[in-house]
Amino acid sequence: MTANKVKDEDLEKFAKELQEQIMSQLRQQYSAEVIDRWQNPRNFKRIENPDGYAQVKGSCGDSMEMFLKIEDDRIIDCGFFTDGCGTTIACGSIATEVAQGKSFIEALALVSADEILKRLGGLPEEDVHCAQLAAETMRRALADYLFQKKQSWKKLYRKVEVE
Ligand code: FES
Repeated sequence: MTANKVKDEDLEKFAKELQEQIMSQLRQQYSAEVIDRWQNPRNFKRIENPDGYAQVKGSCGDSMEMFLKIEDDRIIDCGFFTDGCGTTIACGSIATEVAQGKSFIEALALVSADEILKRLGGLPEEDVHCAQLAAETMRRALADYLFQKKQSWKKLYRKVEVE
C-alpha cells in the first residue's frame, strides 16, 4: 500500500467520522422531520409569473420568497427560496407542502408558525422565528394573490425576478 493511498483512506475515514458526529449532534437538537426537509427540501424553487408572490426579511436578517400558482382559487403549485439556514429551509418546505393543493382560504387558515412547528415536531427556541418567517411569507404571498386578483391589470406591469 502506498503512502498516498493510506493518506486518502485516513482522510476519507476522518471525513466520515466528522459527518457522523455532525449528524449525531443535529439529531440531538432536531427531529427527523426537520433533518429530512433540511437535506431534501420540497418545493425549493422559484416559479415564473406567480399569481401570488412575497419576499420577507426575518428578524435575523435572512429572507424568504414564496411563489404561488393559483387556478380557480386553488394552489396548483408553490415554491420558496431562502438565503437562510437549514431550519428556515425546513420551515419553507413545510409551509409550501401544507399549502399545495389547498384552496386560497384553506391555505390562509392552515399555514401558521404553530402548524409548521407542529408538523416539524418542534424547533429549539432560538429557531422558532424561522417558522414565523415562513408563515408570514406564505400569508403575504396569499394576500398578494388576492390583491392581484382584484386589480388584475396591474399584473401586466409586475416583474418578479426569477434567476
Ligand atoms: Fe434566520 Fe432561520 S436563522 S430565518
